[in-house]
Amino acid sequence: MQLQIAPSILAADFLELGKDIDALNKNADIIHFDVMDGTFVPNISFGFPVLEAVSRMAKIPMDAHFMVVNPEKWVDRCAKAGVSMMSFHLEAAGRKTRSILRDIRSHGMKAGLVINPDVPVEKLYQYIGAADYFLVMSVFAGFGGQKFIYESLDRIYCLKERILSKGNDAKVEVDGGVNEGNIKALADAGVDIAVAGSSVFRSGDPAAAIASLRNAL
Ligand code: DX5
Ligand code: ZN
Repeated sequence: MQLQIAPSILAADFLELGKDIDALNKNADIIHFDVMDGTFVPNISFGFPVLEAVSRMAKIPMDAHFMVVNPEKWVDRCAKAGVSMMSFHLEAAGRKTRSILRDIRSHGMKAGLVINPDVPVEKLYQYIGAADYFLVMSVFAGFGGQKFIYESLDRIYCLKERILSKGNDAKVEVDGGVNEGNIKALADAGVDIAVAGSSVFRSGDPAAAIASLRNAL
């Protein structure tokens, strides 16, 4: 399947959010939401009021990336808000990981498991079969606009190989510093879904920026 583009609205102009969602509805595949709690990551973004408002307007699937402690608290509300994909960090969930993945699925959403760049990718392998997608951070979670960490390519390649060798169809998502210069290498390494914040919204023309990302493939 063709790589899907998931713009992160963290980089959008919040005073013009409706306009940006309209552009994403027409040009993107998925809308990516970064929910931060100021505890798991040293930053706070936005929460359910924004998610619920966007949901009323979204025509494409919404992917919520929870950078929070105790992610299990938000599964039910996320499903009720109309989110189709919910992910959380392995570092935040620890031993609760498997049961949270199960809970997300039982709420009818796709379950995603995320790791920061300093977590060995092998730690994800035991969850192949239990998750619908794996999100490999290519920057440290917490802020948009950071520089892509090149070692991520190798991690993605290894993960994808392992998923395929187990005959599984989990998707691999990448998040952080994705741009026209690295998206082809990411697709070649096995990425199915590319999150892009700054590279989509910085120019002020998300439609054109998404087209450039697709053209770079
Ligand atoms: C970082 C977030 C990312 C971020 C990506 O914590 O998870 O989704 O918005 O932004 P860029 O594409 O600017 O790195
Ligand atoms: Zn994200």
